[in-house]
Amino acid sequence: MFDFKDHVVLVTGAGRGIGRAIAEAFAQRGAAVAANDISPVNLDETVKRITQSGAACRDYVCDIAKKMPVQAMLEQICDDFGKIDILINNAGVEPHASILEMDEWDWRRTLDVNLSGAFFTMQSVGRLMREQGGGAIVNIASIAGRAHGLKNRAAYVASKMGLIGLTREAAREFAAYNIRVNAICPGVIETEMTAALRQDEAMLAKWLEDIPLGRLGSVQDVVGLVLFLCSDYAAYLTGQAINMDGGKVMS
Ligand code: NAI
Repeated sequence: MFDFKDHVVLVTGAGRGIGRAIAEAFAQRGAAVAANDISPVNLDETVKRITQSGAACRDYVCDIAKKMPVQAMLEQICDDFGKIDILINNAGVEPHASILEMDEWDWRRTLDVNLSGAFFTMQSVGRLMREQGGGAIVNIASIAGRAHGLKNRAAYVASKMGLIGLTREAAREFAAYNIRVNAICPGVIETEMTAALRQDEAMLAKWLEDIPLGRLGSVQDVVGLVLFLCSDYAAYLTGQAINMDGGKVMS
């Protein structure tokens, strides 16, 4: 259904989970993939899986919370692939601590990665896309940033609410350059990030009770919406934050 031949896609946090699935999905549909993560440990496996399938993919190890390394990474991607058509801001961290117990490092780090990281990539990639005549950006936010907060996740919730606001403002500003910017707000998706929640039977049962579709989300659920938002089928869609939560926010 979707064809991304001749497109170059940058996916942050592509070492595992949702990011790896997004990188693989674009590669399967013809795109060249610039796969970023803070560590090579899992990223190497992502790149190996994609290149073994015959698609173009390179690894870019970089902490997206740091502006200068992000700029250096983007220059390297342009040297390697010539352009960036699609940016997926997926990298994220989720420390668990109450406000009364949270230390300053966790608070700052969460905002630095989840919010400032997306700002740095959008600013620099936005400039590139403006020169190139357009592009598409998808930010992976969370329903934690919408109707449902999460216990002991104040920094995470604040960062994702901020990311939704940043998405809207970037969409407003970038529209003049034919750059669309949208956000996805997933509920609980089955990845390593949510392993603790899924292992707690009582909490899981309580969470599932409120999901009309009766199950947790899969990485492929998120992938489908990412592909749609980056495709021409979504050409008139920008500035949106779309819930991907099995209908939980209705309950
Ligand atoms: P994950 O923890 O499995 O993967 C996140 C990846 O981001 C890891 O490979 C990690 O190394 C990388 N990363 C962390 N900090 C980084 C940095 N500073 N620079 C570059 N890479 C960095 O997480 P998962 O579950 O795949 O989530 C991906 C995104 O989706 C996150 O933004 C998360 O907040 C969001 N999300 C996830 C949900 C879930 O239920 N799994 C629900 C809602 C949102």
